Amino acid sequence: TPETYFSRELLAWYRASKRTLPWRRDRDAYRIWVSEIMLQQTRVDTVIPYYERFMARFPTLQALAEAPEADVLKHWEGLGYYSRARNLQAGAREVAERYGGRVPDDKAAVSALKGVGPYTAGAIMSIAFNRPEPAVDGNVMRVLSRYFNRDEDIAKPSTRIGMEKLAASLIPDGAAGDFNQALMELGALVCTPRTPGCLTCPVMALCAGRIAGRETELPVKAKA
Ligand code: ADE
Repeated sequence: TPETYFSRELLAWYRASKRTLPWRRDRDAYRIWVSEIMLQQTRVDTVIPYYERFMARFPTLQALAEAPEADVLKHWEGLGYYSRARNLQAGAREVAERYGGRVPDDKAAVSALKGVGPYTAGAIMSIAFNRPEPAVDGNVMRVLSRYFNRDEDIAKPSTRIGMEKLAASLIPDGAAGDFNQALMELGALVCTPRTPGCLTCPVMALCAGRIAGRETELPVKAKA
């Protein structure tokens, strides 16, 4: 089916060509959490040096929880959206107090942490704990809208929820972390907004949006 083809080819492509990124060195949930927060509004290339400095200064969740807030903000300087840094530290302090400093392997508990929305919770659960949870952000919605030729408005919460169900159904057994990162990687490197690189896409052959000639019209996003 187009679904099984998508999952299999995308996963194989990712495993063969994924980038070496600092947060892909291990599956430490704290390190993955920091990376996902930084990556929310900031590009990978920009994030890398900030991430390296931040992790050198706050190598463990305990170190971040115990640090003065001013020190945390200082290490966020240049990334912007400082509420992300404040929420991240507040979340780290919650984990230090309630869970002895270990990020819980529990979707509801992770989702309840300060600054952790559905996307970040899904990213942490899948990448750190390999749990079959979707992690759907704007890049992933673009990929899925195109491949399945879906033209619902991605600004609508109901569309996001439908995309999360779709993304969850596509996760190959035992490969949630790699599959979710494969979706992100395809959106970042190939299935890009303006000029998608269909000719190098591992799933072009069955991409319904491309077959319909609609790849650059998708995803549909109603104006605010
Ligand atoms: N964008 C958001 N999360 C990412 C990740 N884990 N790797 C690369 N790009 C991302």
